[in-house]
Amino acid sequence: MKRVRIAVFIGPKGRGSNMRAIVDACRHGRLHADVAAVYCSNPDSPAIQNLEIPVRDPLNPNLLEDLRNLQVDLICLAGYLRLLPSEVVHSFSGAILNIHPALLPKFGGKGMYGVRVHEAVLAAGEKESGCTVHLVTENYDEGQIVLQKKCPVLTGDTPESLAERILPLEHEAYVEAIQNWIGAHQSARNASL
Ligand code: GRF
Repeated sequence: MKRVRIAVFIGPKGRGSNMRAIVDACRHGRLHADVAAVYCSNPDSPAIQNLEIPVRDPLNPNLLEDLRNLQVDLICLAGYLRLLPSEVVHSFSGAILNIHPALLPKFGGKGMYGVRVHEAVLAAGEKESGCTVHLVTENYDEGQIVLQKKCPVLTGDTPESLAERILPLEHEAYVEAIQNWIGAHQSARNASL
């Protein structure tokens, strides 16, 4: 069975914890996959130091060609705050995932990232929050939801305490969603052989 080749996209100031969770899951055999490249526009980002994985520029005008040259099967956005070029979205349709730190379809969309998401959840008086892994389209946070994990919102929560409760769920959810994607992808391949 072929190992799936993943490209992970992170933001220039990203912490990279979801990217690390994916890299670790590949290295420890939880995913039948390898991270072929990490895309980050900031070469000085602490998240990509000592990674031993090629780092590429996500703003490369020939991004689609770059992904093809690397034989990427699956793109994982992890704190990447931009939209991907539409030619990439179309060419990788069904093969781009994103993680969002709330229960979509609520609390998503343009500008809803980082602490703002948790502030909005608290302001709305929600009793639970969590994270969502979804397929990526040309719009922010709109594609099909593939996996969610939930946790309670507690009295006295701050945006920071809520974010801290959700982050480990994100790491689990992302790896599980990729496992599911690989399973579905391989069944489809076998069916077509
Ligand atoms: C996460 O909260 C993720 O849900 C959101 O951006 C954050 C990235 O965190 N899309 P990290 O860089 O993976 O630690």
